[in-house]
Amino acid sequence: MIRFDGVVKKFNSKAVLAGVSFEIRQGEIFAIVGPSGTGKSVTLKHMVRLLTPTSGSVWLGSEEVSAASGRRLAKIRERFGYLFQGGAFLGSLTVGENIQLPLRERRNLSEFEIERRTHEALEAVDLAGAEDKMPAELSGGMLKRAGLARALVRNADIMLYDEPTSALDPVTARQVNRLITRTNTERKITSVVVTHDLAAALGYAHRILMLKGGKVLECCSPDKFVKSPVAEVKEFLEASGL
Ligand SMILES: Nc1ncnc2c1ncn2[C@@H]1O[C@H](COP(=O)(O)OP(=O)(O)O)[C@@H](O)[C@H]1O
Ligand SMILES: [Mg+2]
Repeated sequence: MIRFDGVVKKFNSKAVLAGVSFEIRQGEIFAIVGPSGTGKSVTLKHMVRLLTPTSGSVWLGSEEVSAASGRRLAKIRERFGYLFQGGAFLGSLTVGENIQLPLRERRNLSEFEIERRTHEALEAVDLAGAEDKMPAELSGGMLKRAGLARALVRNADIMLYDEPTSALDPVTARQVNRLITRTNTERKITSVVVTHDLAAALGYAHRILMLKGGKVLECCSPDKFVKSPVAEVKEFLEASGL
């Protein structure tokens, strides 16, 4: 469904991605792991053309994302929901108003439909009734979930998560991971999760890709991943206490 074909990405002649190829299948939870600074966020940004490859190509089905612009790119981006690091909410708007922002950009939705989708999205992340709260009243974990609700109202069919559980306590992190799984199964949303939490990823991902030094070291099921013969993968597993 999403395919990277020999993607090289250089910043100032330094290759962050040095020929990356892989394919994400429709409906799966696909985790991307690896040391920090290794190009995980850069990889994610290529999927919505926030970055463009120096060489190689990125595909969504038969559409070349890396060559799309204008209306074609807008249509591609409409299919994605993002939960990026930070995920800022506007402090002067209520949680409900923040969630409705992406919907109000579309002129064709009725007020009733906007309210209905907001309510449903908050319910999906176990925040029913939080519409009228201010962002400052929510805990870090609740804000993450509200961020997920904001991504869900758009009815995207692909979700991108960048370190969704970093800076969360273990209990809240587990809650967010469960929501990722629930969103994937109940809404059939293809989910791409960049995470440093390998243990959790092994639990919820259908397949795991490990990046290091701009190269794909492994891309396989959790079962195979834990038995990987690749030395750097073994080392990463060990360092994660696995
Ligand atoms: N827009 C940019 N301009 C220059 N360098 C960048 C840019 N974005 C990322 N990088 C560099 O690319 C490398 C990988 O970054 P990133 O994908 O954010 O790592 P991570 O795996 O931790 O998500 C880092 O060295 C970072 O400094
Ligand atoms: Mg990152």
